[in-house]
Amino acid sequence: MSWRITLMAIASAVVCTTATFALAAGGVRSLAHTAGIHFGTAVNVEALGTDAPYSRLLAREFDLVTPENAMKFSVIQPERGRFDFSQADALVAFAEAHAMQVNGHVLVWDQQLPDWLTQGHFSSDELKAILREHIQTVVARYRGRVASWDVAAEAVGEDGKPRETFWSRGIGADYLALAFRWAHEADPQARLRYNDYGGEGAGAKSDGIYTLVAGLRTHRVPIDAVGLQMHVSLNDAPRPEDVRLNMKRLAALGLQTDITEMDVMLPLPASRAALKKQAVLYGAMLQACLAVPQCRSFSTWGATDRYSWIPEFFPGQGAALLFDASGHAKPAYWSIKLALLTKASHKR
Ligand code: G3I
Repeated sequence: MSWRITLMAIASAVVCTTATFALAAGGVRSLAHTAGIHFGTAVNVEALGTDAPYSRLLAREFDLVTPENAMKFSVIQPERGRFDFSQADALVAFAEAHAMQVNGHVLVWDQQLPDWLTQGHFSSDELKAILREHIQTVVARYRGRVASWDVAAEAVGEDGKPRETFWSRGIGADYLALAFRWAHEADPQARLRYNDYGGEGAGAKSDGIYTLVAGLRTHRVPIDAVGLQMHVSLNDAPRPEDVRLNMKRLAALGLQTDITEMDVMLPLPASRAALKKQAVLYGAMLQACLAVPQCRSFSTWGATDRYSWIPEFFPGQGAALLFDASGHAKPAYWSIKLALLTKASHKR
């Protein structure tokens, strides 16, 4: 009898090891699927057409894509009434060709607004009409093809109070509720999200975001999720436990959450020790997401260090992503895979 038990134990160990190896050998997206979340990144659309290894890496590793800039107001509507969807269409086509979900980014934001808009001296009613036309033209074009939208972003200040923005000054405080309603009218099936940075864990801004979205829910505004951007550094990152608790309290409002734009900037040249600490941070934030059923996706803000926004905006900093500038996996990549493998093995 004991030889039978021994054989079964060996067989199960082989099966488990084989399955684990098979899971580990594939891209992250297959592990993420097994663990029950989408794994995404922001896409540099210009590079899609010029950098074949980059495109192949995206298709292998990610099942969710967000246009880094291709769907921003100034790109989509550079002149009043003239819409340019060329970059956005290219991204959506790439996603559909590789069985990826698309997160549309970003309908209402205070940056990358065209001069015709910011210098137009429009009345409140004119601005409402302009914003409604923009949102409904863009969302309707991708109805059924873009699964979720960052309807609004970064509308809460560091102090937790509503931030004064071009839109709040021009339309009034109800611009956010209007934007969500207009987006919902254009595509009732789309998942609508508020997306922000600096409020991922505990603190005044986190509380301010919570208050904002709780108010939207109270007024039956069609908001489905909150995006936690997670732009951090080794010395400036939320506690993973605080992130998990924040996700839980947002879930209690009926809201899903996502980690939407994670990157961990490092002083350049990045040391081995810093890369290891970066790996720990990525793994810990993913584990916080995996611990909350309502956390539905984990995305980085860029796939490779070659296309990261960080060096331009933070001189001397970089190496913020999972793959280096040549597309080679960094320690953070393996930390992400280990967290997903661990989750997947617990789901069996
Ligand atoms: O496309 C123009 C080009 O024609 C022009 O010659 C050049 C020089 O002026 O500018 C180019 O546009 C730049 C654009 O990136 C595309 O490269 C803008 O100036 C530049 O401001 C813009 O930066 C983007 C930034 O958002 C502002 O929109 C970054 O790439 C992008 O990574 C960053 O992403 C944001 C998210 O949307 C929201 N969350 C924060 C995150 C980081 O700031």
